[in-house]
Amino acid sequence: MKCNKYPLSRSIENNSLVVFGCMGLGGTWDKNPISAVDIKKAHEVVDAAIDSGIKVFDHADIYTFGKAEQVFGEVLAARPELRSLISIQSKCAIRFEDELGPQRYDFSPEWIINSVENILSRLKIEQLDILMLHRPDPLMEPELIAQAFDTLTASGKVKHFGVSNMQHHQMSFLSSALSQPLIVNQVELSLSHLAWLEEGVTSGNSGEPSVNYGAGTIEYCRQNNIQLQSWGCLSQGLFTGRDITQEPLHIQKTAALVTQLAAEYQVSKEAIVLSWLTRHPANIQPVIGTTNIERIKACADVNNMKLTREHWYALWLCARGHALP
Ligand SMILES: NC(=O)c1ccc[n+]([C@@H]2O[C@H](COP(=O)([O-])OP(=O)(O)OC[C@H]3O[C@@H](n4cnc5c(N)ncnc54)[C@H](OP(=O)(O)O)[C@@H]3O)[C@@H](O)[C@H]2O)c1
Repeated sequence: MKCNKYPLSRSIENNSLVVFGCMGLGGTWDKNPISAVDIKKAHEVVDAAIDSGIKVFDHADIYTFGKAEQVFGEVLAARPELRSLISIQSKCAIRFEDELGPQRYDFSPEWIINSVENILSRLKIEQLDILMLHRPDPLMEPELIAQAFDTLTASGKVKHFGVSNMQHHQMSFLSSALSQPLIVNQVELSLSHLAWLEEGVTSGNSGEPSVNYGAGTIEYCRQNNIQLQSWGCLSQGLFTGRDITQEPLHIQKTAALVTQLAAEYQVSKEAIVLSWLTRHPANIQPVIGTTNIERIKACADVNNMKLTREHWYALWLCARGHALP
């Protein structure tokens, strides 16, 4: 079996344990132009992230309808020295309903290449460090995607490729036609989204619900040096301070355990929640989506801690709400 100690994507330049998710930049999800306030906020957020040791910034062409990339482009234009200090990844292939058709995913080479042109233009950069296909398109034809990836590699517009929300058989199918390795898969993994672990311990166990996650995805990524990135990693504050008085008892108990462990390890609550992901041997990279400066800084505590096996299991058991089989 291949050794996963130093996955390829962790070894590319400008990598970091935590990734900053830019979905909250660019103001509101509408077609209004970006404002000076949105740009100022982006400067503050980027500074807080870099001060917290973050070197990777996650985008998608759809975030705030392109405005997240636009404000980020303004930050880079004002401070071009930042470009060499960070890695920038973005995603394409989710299409909203428009005059041409309904909501859809689009892995056609024309759409992929066109999307990259638009992403680079909004970000005001020459090359994306990583391009990811955002959600699996049932109409995907790997040979055609390979043509698009080859074109983007030859033109220097994309350095590396990855996917998001894909299961192992989809990655394997796609990879069979590609000349480039897939180096990232970004999926939802968190203390409130446990499906990635459940399938591994509940299969064949009567009485346990089938979660239909696609067992083997975590192992496939580990074996093939594909960096797992977790979106929704803070569970939108569910365990770190959001009002949860209406949530089920096991969620409230998990939040209390997070608070207790934060005091014990002398770190922030955010660090405990993120550490539950980074403690997993798959080297999961959390993609944090907070735009609150104090919360961004609080997340940095995860760089200096490691949960014990016992605390990792205590959090899992509490969050799943019942005993393991
Ligand atoms: N690949 C995909 O399909 C996909 C899907 C979704 C997201 N993403 C990526 O993943 C990143 C993170 O995703 P996410 O934003 O869904 O997850 P998240 O990091 O778990 O949650 C961030 C959100 O939770 C709020 N929050 C966090 N702590 C809070 C607290 N204590 N009290 C109140 N609110 C709190 C934040 O608000 P504040 O800003 O006020 O802190 C922010 O709106 C995104 O930015 C994006 O880059 C990828």
